[in-house]
Amino acid sequence: MDNMKVIVDHDQIQQHIKEVAEKLNQRYQSDDNLMIIVLLQGGKRFADDLVKYLSFEPSVEYMTASSYHGDTQTSGTVKISSEIDGKIAGKDVLLVDDIYDTGLTLKAVTDYIWLLNPASISTCVLLEKQKKHRESIPVDFCGMKIEDSFLIGYGLDFEGKYRDLPYIAIMQEE
Ligand code: IMP
Ligand code: MG
Repeated sequence: MDNMKVIVDHDQIQQHIKEVAEKLNQRYQSDDNLMIIVLLQGGKRFADDLVKYLSFEPSVEYMTASSYHGDTQTSGTVKISSEIDGKIAGKDVLLVDDIYDTGLTLKAVTDYIWLLNPASISTCVLLEKQKKHRESIPVDFCGMKIEDSFLIGYGLDFEGKYRDLPYIAIMQEE
């Protein structure tokens, strides 16, 4: 594919993930109440690598949140699907996703989780787009800030493709 430009290579991504993992090790090492919730599908690749660098064994669960329907713009409506509602009460939830873009996803999912009575919710993303977000969300752990373009690779897809690229690239629309 020639209409893409690699902006973060595999080694750089791993370095950023290790830095996030070190912060999580400090914060959660002795927290038996931690529940990591990974947002599918985009957050899975990041979470899988992140967990490898943790110095403790976390409990990891998944929810699905989707707002893109084969486009490069969010549809604005976030659909959440969860099978773990009954497990969340009293937990220190760490919500893990690939990217903080408009913030609509993290806002919708944190609103959803708060209704299930967790002890706390913290957020962790690999990437934060440098832009004015539609919803302003406190991001507790962030791998790196990145320019506001449509990105692919390392969990980020376009129409279900390119998620498995080992680097992050800007997709230049023709
Ligand atoms: P937000 O709701 O706009 O903050 O976006 C969050 C979700 O949209 C992420 O979980 C991604 O799945 C997806 N997303 C946001 N920006 C991009 C992008 O540049 N490329 C691919 N997916 C994206
Ligand atoms: Mg997503």
